Amino acid sequence: DPKAGCPVHGGEMKIRSLLGRQNKDWWPDALPVDMLHQHGVSPDPMGEDFDYAEAFKKLDYAALKADLTTLMTDSKSWWPADYGHYGPFMIRMAWHAAGTYRVTDGRGGAGSGQQRFEPLNSWPDNGNLDKARRLLWPIKQKYGQSISWADLFILAGNVAIESMGGPVFGFGGGRRDVYQSEGDTFWGAEEIWVDQGAQTRITEEQVELEGPLAAIQMGLIYVNPEGPGGDPDPLKSARDMKATFLRMAMNSEETVALTAGGHAFGKAHGAKPGETFGKAPAGEAIHQQGFGWLTDADEIGKGHITTSGIEGSWSNNPTQWGGDYFRLLFKYDYELVESPAGAKQWQPINPDREDMAPDARDPNKRVPTMMTTADMALKMDPEFRAISERFRDDQAALDDAFARAWFKLTHRDMGPKSLYLGPEVPEETLIWQDPVPAGAAPSDADVLAFKSAVLSSGLTVSQLVKTAWASASTYRKSDKRGGANGARIALAPQKDWDVNEPAELATVLAKLNELRGSMSLADAIVLAGSAAVEKAAKDGGFDVTVPFTGGRGDATQDWTDVESFHWMEPQADGFRNYLKTRQPVKTEELLLDKASLLGLSGPEMTVLVGGLRVLGANHKGIPKGVFTHRKGALTNDFFVNLFDIDTFWDLADTASDEEFIGYTRGERTEKWRATRTDLIFGSNSQLRATAEVYAERGHEEKFVRDFVKAWVKVMNADRFDLA
Ligand code: HEM
Repeated sequence: DPKAGCPVHGGEMKIRSLLGRQNKDWWPDALPVDMLHQHGVSPDPMGEDFDYAEAFKKLDYAALKADLTTLMTDSKSWWPADYGHYGPFMIRMAWHAAGTYRVTDGRGGAGSGQQRFEPLNSWPDNGNLDKARRLLWPIKQKYGQSISWADLFILAGNVAIESMGGPVFGFGGGRRDVYQSEGDTFWGAEEIWVDQGAQTRITEEQVELEGPLAAIQMGLIYVNPEGPGGDPDPLKSARDMKATFLRMAMNSEETVALTAGGHAFGKAHGAKPGETFGKAPAGEAIHQQGFGWLTDADEIGKGHITTSGIEGSWSNNPTQWGGDYFRLLFKYDYELVESPAGAKQWQPINPDREDMAPDARDPNKRVPTMMTTADMALKMDPEFRAISERFRDDQAALDDAFARAWFKLTHRDMGPKSLYLGPEVPEETLIWQDPVPAGAAPSDADVLAFKSAVLSSGLTVSQLVKTAWASASTYRKSDKRGGANGARIALAPQKDWDVNEPAELATVLAKLNELRGSMSLADAIVLAGSAAVEKAAKDGGFDVTVPFTGGRGDATQDWTDVESFHWMEPQADGFRNYLKTRQPVKTEELLLDKASLLGLSGPEMTVLVGGLRVLGANHKGIPKGVFTHRKGALTNDFFVNLFDIDTFWDLADTASDEEFIGYTRGERTEKWRATRTDLIFGSNSQLRATAEVYAERGHEEKFVRDFVKAWVKVMNADRFDLA
């Protein structure tokens, strides 16, 4: 199981906190602006009513692209363009914006403009990209709300490629900016950065990358260019590239195309002996105004810039798309050398003069080209080499593979194609977009008839609720994948996931298929779940209608990217009291993580857990956390009984802290069983305060209504057409 990322070493689990090292750990003295954003106050100056899609539609797209094209060759003395062209610099910025994406949890990526904020704005791997972003400011200012920073970063990358003759597949806008650092992403637990010697995450013993991570050392986007942990071993570098790019949902062909295509352009910076890589933007003095990695203006003028520490360009034509990267990689033997700044890199032996590169500041001077250890991997690793040779011999194949992989890289976390904006959205549908054919909403009469048929079909409330939950709760707001639309619950791999109890699921789906008539299966699953919730509410004493909006379509197996859905299999689902494998974080943290990916608030998470327990939604019907004698009725019993002061709790077994028994105080007779996910609502002060509301007298109906609201939110989480 490539996802497991085996957290066990020699029988011992390495436990970490959910979020690892956070901004306040790196920069304890930073101004705590977010203290202003408590109690539901938003940091977004645009306000809730701002509709970015509408604003984007008013954009003069052609004028913006023309301005970006002009910018590419409009060199500024405060940060002169190498070879008079900012294109390569902008491509690196866009690549690093998108390249933080990981398919494991869908987080990272270019979708919200996070490169503007800590920690990403100060990652060593993002060195000097503060200047690239600042070069874009006059354009961002000019076009204002009609182009987000997040879109601008990617569009600048596209225009850069086009302006140097490179192939582009298309551009979709629609990345709405956020105005604070996203605090929900685990970037690692190490307390030092890569340039301070942070450990490398793949070793002989630890062959899987830890947890959701997609980078090999703290502060890198992917691999260490000098080789694993600085060891210039191209084969080991290939191993690391495959592991990290796989987490970005890229296969070997895409990995080769992207890396070679990217390095057709620009240069690495490590020209100055003894140059230290200065302080990152976060932590620099106030008068530096958000700039970090400071270099003396004189040295900048001479091109004495240190970024990675590696020095030189890959190609003799670093501002022109073409096949020179592969031509040079294969034409010459390379020897290991050190850059002026002391980084390990590879240099062609006895290059012909015309195969040397222009100097970045003086076109009349020729300097040697170079390859990083990661580039050498494209020639030395047998699998990569076969691909590289094919691309060397077939430029059109490289053009196509690079353009497609770049498009995927930069659009993968944007959700369905229907959300892409602008005149350059490609017609072609791509499998990684998880396409779902349009569906037609059933009539009101069909809805009523189906509901009553389902409720008298013999299927239980528990079965119907579980199936609807299983279908909808795959949604993750991080990359807008998953959800009930498409009914991929009925397709591989989801139909076979342990969490979904495959045999029982098949029975339920067969029955729903029998009853649904012309309604899509996706709608039928949600509607059946909603009918069950209505029945359960009634059995609990409240008449409610669960709002239903039909119109979902059914996806096909052919258009389902099984490999990339595989990463979405829940290892835990606290809402179903399910834990497949013990993770290196606490089980209640996994519940929080899932709630976060579903876009739920604390109260929504709380009311859903309490409701789902009494509805019988637990995996395999395990009795843990089912604090009720009226299972199947939607009541607040979970909270009432959890807070009963006549109950005391103890570990079920001292060997594990995953299971607990609730005893009657004084007698030690067993009343209930519970997991950490259940007891956290009594133990954590904030969750307890929230859960108390649902246990209070007079709030029985509020509980039901809040449950229904949160339920519908999950059912409709992927209904971008409704927003
Ligand atoms: C620059 C490493 C993949 C595009 C660089 C630099 C390094 C590097 C060390 C020099 C930074 C500096 O000192 O200024 C790597 C490694 C990769 C990788 C190890 C993967 C294994 C990519 C990809 C792209 C890309 C996928 C884009 C598709 C660029 C560009 C530059 C660059 C355009 C030149 C920037 C400039 O001229 O300022 N890369 N890179 N790289 N990279 Fe990559």
